[in-house]
Amino acid sequence: MSASTPVPALDAVDLGDPATFADHALDLDGYWRGLRDHAPLHWNPPVDGRRGFWVLSRHEDIIATYRDNVNFTSERGNVLVTLLEGGDAAAGRMLAVTDGHRHHELRKILQRVLSPRVLDEVARTVRVNTRLWIREAVEAGTCEFAEEIASRIPMTTISSLLGVPEEDRDYLLSLTKAALSAEGEDVDAVDSEMARNEILMYFMDIVEERRESPGEDVISMLIASSIDGVPLSDEDVVLNCYSLIIGGDETSRLTMIDCLHTLATRPDEWRRFKHGEVAVGTAVDEVLRWASPTMHFGRSVERETELHGVRLRPGEIVTLWHASGNRDERVFDRPGVFDLGRAPNRHMAFGYGPHFCVGSYLAKVEIAELLNALRDFTTGFEQTEEARRIRSNFLTGFSTMPVRFTPDPSGLKAADA
Ligand code: HEM
Repeated sequence: MSASTPVPALDAVDLGDPATFADHALDLDGYWRGLRDHAPLHWNPPVDGRRGFWVLSRHEDIIATYRDNVNFTSERGNVLVTLLEGGDAAAGRMLAVTDGHRHHELRKILQRVLSPRVLDEVARTVRVNTRLWIREAVEAGTCEFAEEIASRIPMTTISSLLGVPEEDRDYLLSLTKAALSAEGEDVDAVDSEMARNEILMYFMDIVEERRESPGEDVISMLIASSIDGVPLSDEDVVLNCYSLIIGGDETSRLTMIDCLHTLATRPDEWRRFKHGEVAVGTAVDEVLRWASPTMHFGRSVERETELHGVRLRPGEIVTLWHASGNRDERVFDRPGVFDLGRAPNRHMAFGYGPHFCVGSYLAKVEIAELLNALRDFTTGFEQTEEARRIRSNFLTGFSTMPVRFTPDPSGLKAADA
């Protein structure tokens, strides 16, 4: 953000409006700093009949709220779009919007189906595919990274986990893109809702098929699972497949695109990584902190509670902004600096507490393999055109990323050996 970009007045920003994040005419970093320093519990007022909501911007407050599933609930939605509508139709059935005993039991099932044993094979596939695609792109010299690589890695990963046939993956990808991120102004709320319904219907058909002839995939494992002796219903299975595909595709894709974008403009950090001065795992965490692809999650107040001297009433919406918590100078030294060697790195890209991301291991594998393949096959890369930003109040990032690679002949040769 340039020094001349205006820092808006704290009450002049509407965090519910996707346009706030799309046009980048405002210094949002300065805005978040202002909130953290002067209004750590801020009220985003109602706009045009849309409800108002509380905004938490400090790392410490966000973590405390994530951890507290007594005073706060996810069962009336966990992102603004559903919270503002007054609820999520999948509450009590889809992991992310279920609390209490059922959440605990459902989470155990999903953790089991995402166990290292199952993921080991998937991680190998991620590695092979990522190396193949990056190598092809480096040898070709240029590529549309968002389209040709970042879109393929997570979708292929989740699809092989769920046993989605290869020929259906492009179709599903187009639906997941429309379902959440609204890439342009031409994708409206109705298109998004239709895309979400189509994903559900698609999985309904697959569940029927797998009931007839089960396989080794996650869908078949979910069909065979029970909670308190009661098998999961078709709807339970479908909603949780939906959650895996939505949760696992967009976020990882946007993080990988941001990773390329950020490294292309920070040659010193790229060189540190290329020359082995920072460990891959440490770099992955900084890539996640920096990208913070999910700008917020949210909760509803379940029981009256107090924060910063204010009574929060049951039913009120509280939003937790990673976009700010991951830049909180109370926790991060030089938070505005992208430092691949940052340690410790208490980022909250995967949330915290009982709903901490169940796909975090998989996401880290994908980002690590991307970084490994870049390190091995290229000496550097540059962005060749301006990238297009997605338009959302939930996700942040780019939908395009044209890049030019400089090949690393010795790395490419070593891979042939
Ligand atoms: C939950 C972020 C990748 C599936 C979450 C939450 C966050 C998050 C912040 C907490 C939501 C809340 O507390 O309300 C991310 C990011 C990712 C990523 C930044 C990639 C960079 C994945 C992947 C999968 C996945 C690869 C699937 C394999 C889920 C599910 C939940 C979840 C099912 C709900 C967990 C629960 O409620 O217990 N994710 N995620 N995510 N994520 Fe991820």
